[in-house]
Amino acid sequence: MSWPEMIKSTLEKWGVHRVDGVFDEVVVVGMGGSGVVGDYLQVLSSKRGSLPVYVVKSHVLPHFLDSHSLVLAVSYSGNTLETLIAFKRATERGLRVVAISSGGLLEEEARRSGALHVKIPGGLAPRASLPLMLYSALGLFDSSGFSITSRGEAEKSAVFLEESRELALSVSRRLAEWLYSECTLQRRLVVVATHAPLDVLALRFKNELNENSKLQVKVDVAPEWMHNDVVGYEVPVFRDICVLEIVDPSDSVGVELVDFMRSIYSELTSTSHRLELRGDNTLEKLMYGSLVAGLSSTLLGTMRGLDPLATRSIQLYKSRAPGIFQYN
Ligand code: F6R
Repeated sequence: MSWPEMIKSTLEKWGVHRVDGVFDEVVVVGMGGSGVVGDYLQVLSSKRGSLPVYVVKSHVLPHFLDSHSLVLAVSYSGNTLETLIAFKRATERGLRVVAISSGGLLEEEARRSGALHVKIPGGLAPRASLPLMLYSALGLFDSSGFSITSRGEAEKSAVFLEESRELALSVSRRLAEWLYSECTLQRRLVVVATHAPLDVLALRFKNELNENSKLQVKVDVAPEWMHNDVVGYEVPVFRDICVLEIVDPSDSVGVELVDFMRSIYSELTSTSHRLELRGDNTLEKLMYGSLVAGLSSTLLGTMRGLDPLATRSIQLYKSRAPGIFQYN
């Protein structure tokens, strides 16, 4: 609920950090709640930006990077191994690298290699700090001459989110109740169905339901869904699903695509819930949808008697990762 304030705190530092140089592309490296920043930058940039944004959610950097590439490593904790490995490999290759973290080893590595490090406040779950990471990156790009979002647009989005947060909360309460009674209590698999370019938001919803509500989730995105998944519904093996539809009401083609999806799902289930996004532009719609994803999944976790904050399996994996990657 404090996301508008988070955005405003980032706006105060807008213009403080910049990278000099002319770039052909930006590669954003990060995992989980930090990796989603790359997804959002990519979709925002493809609408408005001047540079292509590639997203890397692993330790493997693309081969094509050169002196005209900018690598942005994002890790809220600064201690995520895949991101650290990619960061180190990028510096070893002599690439231009920038890091965003609340501290951790990434900050140390950035200092050691002389790379720019943008420090954000710590003490939160990475997924709850989305505005800190996203708007820090947007501010950095804007100040460096390859703007995706201007300062004015960022300010407007903070005001929009402030004005919509009570509505987002009541929408989230209704959604959490539906998810609880129609999906989890009935043991139905949650399917998040949406249309391009909202696939990044559907993914964010999935991640939030995974982590805050401890649920397995499937993501279906039109129109690609119509070219493969849809055939799986001809002779379905799994029938117990509930469908959360996410649509942008100003995108009439998107709405019709999701209507078509519903006509196919309806042969299996009539259990569906539609979330209509609000906002004047893609940034506002993504932030509104992300806020509803965070609030509804947290409420649902609590309804299930679980701790939304705890992510035991991620910690288990992180304790094993150094052995898997042979990283000391
Ligand atoms: C989200 C979350 C995870 C982390 C991921 C990477 O809240 O806990 O998805 O974001 O494990 O960790 P960081 O973000 O610290 O690089």
